[in-house]
Amino acid sequence: MEKLNKEHKPHCLILPYPLQGHINPMLQFSKRLAHKGIRTTLVTTKYLYKVLQESLGSIPVETISDGYDNGGVVEAGSTEACIEKFREVGPKTLTELIEKLNNSSDTAVDCIIYDPFFPWDLDVSKKFGLVGAAFLTQSCAVDLIFYYVYKGEIKLPITENEIKVLGLPVLESSDMPSFIYDYGSYATAFEVVLNQFQNVEKADWVLVNTFNKLEQEVIDWMENFWRVKAIGPTIPSMYLDKRLLNDKEYGFSILKPDTDACKKWLDERQNHSVIYVSFGSLVRLEVEQMEELANGLIMSNKCFLWVVRESEESKLPKNFANETSKKGLIVSWCPQLEVLAHDSVGCFITHCGWNSTLEALSLGVPMVAMPCWSDQSTNAKFVSDIWKTGIRTRADDKEIARDTEIMRCVELVMDGDEGKEIRSNAIKWKEMAREAVDEGGSSDRNIEEFVSALVNPINHSIALCSLKFGTSD
Ligand code: UDX
Repeated sequence: MEKLNKEHKPHCLILPYPLQGHINPMLQFSKRLAHKGIRTTLVTTKYLYKVLQESLGSIPVETISDGYDNGGVVEAGSTEACIEKFREVGPKTLTELIEKLNNSSDTAVDCIIYDPFFPWDLDVSKKFGLVGAAFLTQSCAVDLIFYYVYKGEIKLPITENEIKVLGLPVLESSDMPSFIYDYGSYATAFEVVLNQFQNVEKADWVLVNTFNKLEQEVIDWMENFWRVKAIGPTIPSMYLDKRLLNDKEYGFSILKPDTDACKKWLDERQNHSVIYVSFGSLVRLEVEQMEELANGLIMSNKCFLWVVRESEESKLPKNFANETSKKGLIVSWCPQLEVLAHDSVGCFITHCGWNSTLEALSLGVPMVAMPCWSDQSTNAKFVSDIWKTGIRTRADDKEIARDTEIMRCVELVMDGDEGKEIRSNAIKWKEMAREAVDEGGSSDRNIEEFVSALVNPINHSIALCSLKFGTSD
């Protein structure tokens, strides 16, 4: 840390896992740091950088190799091969990047904010004596569950129907992440989420994209074993505190949004009349589920804006788009934040990916939760039963949410008395999300603490020591 001096602005490298749902929150966090005077550089793979659809605005970018610079996962042949190769070449190419940056006192690196999906980033940072901050992109509840599984404190396969975990409300098995209730599914992804915790104890900070009021109990519990700080929600500032001028979008879109068409179409609808439907960047619905959803939308007799990624398009019922063109608009990608913030949107049928969940909460949009895999079932449980900003569809024995069930949930959220309560809760959470990131809010204070430790590492270590040994007054 000796290299820090008055002229040197602390420099953080931000290393997200190369997926939309991981890049968005980490990029947004780097903008918050930059706003507070920290130099930040986003590091992504050479391949992803090539396919980017939009510029990154103010945040500089550096690239490292994952071994598949020309074709990413497609070139690798499978996600498994890609992860394996990245594990092999990633530490080397990251080391080279840090060495290059350290050659100039201006760009010398002080801290690595890494996505623990790649825990080896922390090993590299420790090799250079840098501050290492893990950035967890899922909810604290989900992180705690995976941590307990990693530690062997939740034994798999689970046999009980009710799971009691310290720091969390009682959960049914179907509220657990899919890798747990459907033990054996998506083995590689499961290994990745568990391995997040293999060296987390060595991290100087554990930053989480959440906010204190949203997950107070679980954050309090986690503070017993990590230096955890909630720093979210990491939504562009113009939707929350408006302190970062012109910060209206994430600015790093892997797919190209159909912005004009969405805006024009939404502008022509009445307030709260539209169902917005999206399953994020990864979910692949079964053809049968897609048909049930399409029918559910027709049966609800409301206007809908449905994001169907190009790779999913062939699963739509034949002629569906034409037959429903008076009521519906189907796009392959949209500017989701703009859509959620639009007055005409009345509810969000969502897979409950953590970003979509936080975005809906932050913009006060009631949800119909249709979780598909990974952390989504746990997020859906919190949406429906803890935060009460939505309702979860019930799936049948084939794990399909039927058209009548989808229609029932949409009507309940958009029309009924229960819907009014859900909307009023959604508005409350929107306000609490804004407060958290606004000046003096809980996340803002946590970011300040992180920043001041980077700017003044020696004073900060002394303060921590006094706290630990009880010598502070
Ligand atoms: C993945 C996992 O599926 C999810 O469970 C985990 O919590 C995070 O990583 P993804 O499926 O892509 O993410 O969902 P989500 O977390 O909701 O992120 C999607 C992002 O893409 C959001 O920030 C959303 O605003 C954006 N988006 C989505 C668009 O910009 N346009 C769209 O049309 C759809």
